[in-house]
Amino acid sequence: MDIALHRYLPMRIVILDSADEVAAYGAEIFIRCIRQKPAAVLGLATGSTPLALYRRLIDANRDAVVSFAKVSSFNLDEYLGLAGDHPQSYRHFMNTHLFDHIDINPDNTHVPPGDAADPLQACADYDKLITKLGGIDIQLLGIGRNGHIGFNEPSSGLQSRTRVKTLTRATIDDNARFFSTQEFQPHLSITMGIGTILEARKVVLLATGAAKAGAIKAAAEGPLTASCPASALQMHPDALLIVDAAAAAGLERKAFYKHIERENQKLLQSLGKT
Ligand code: F6R
Repeated sequence: MDIALHRYLPMRIVILDSADEVAAYGAEIFIRCIRQKPAAVLGLATGSTPLALYRRLIDANRDAVVSFAKVSSFNLDEYLGLAGDHPQSYRHFMNTHLFDHIDINPDNTHVPPGDAADPLQACADYDKLITKLGGIDIQLLGIGRNGHIGFNEPSSGLQSRTRVKTLTRATIDDNARFFSTQEFQPHLSITMGIGTILEARKVVLLATGAAKAGAIKAAAEGPLTASCPASALQMHPDALLIVDAAAAAGLERKAFYKHIERENQKLLQSLGKT
């Protein structure tokens, strides 16, 4: 679905009532993309936000609406120091919440190797592999309360590549809920860089809940700044933010974004493209 009217705005913003609608809208975009290009290269994220979207992809795969048989995927990030079989690793998260339940070839799923003997080389290799497979067609993102995307914390270079990144105290605290008190919680990660993310042909960022309202306002309406890594998406030619009412609460031009979407739908209908 090509939306023309938003192109003079830094990003397209779709505001929906509930988190469930955000998941459904996002899943539909991924399903359409894969149906159009069965060997699509997906960029994927972990965290709480994409879980409902992944459940919808699993259902669609089960119902033969979409097949992942030819799809490849690259995850945004991984904790440095955790092997893929560690229950808190992002590889384990992806297997448990998506890959084990769809017809994707596990060999075609890529998560940065948290246990790499040479993490710096592993970062360079990850970017090379993305390029070798033709680049990412569609990248899914969540957003941290501090505006991070992937593990690109505030102050990350806007042209950064996949690299080792130190997590902020805020991110460590946000993610502490997944680790038991005795457990080692990594303070370092491997993450795709902001430059790597911006090379995806399409970027879809999901945000739900009031805790994300400040980050969404900064990303969409704040200045382009390394202090809010998600603001870099303002530079992307096809970035879509799908947010629920709570995450949209801080947006100044909310009514205008909704108006644009209504106009988009009318235009697409008149062109017979819905
Ligand atoms: C995870 C990732 C992070 C999360 C972000 C939001 O792969 O890249 O940037 O998207 O921390 O996490 P949730 O969705 O748990 O609020």
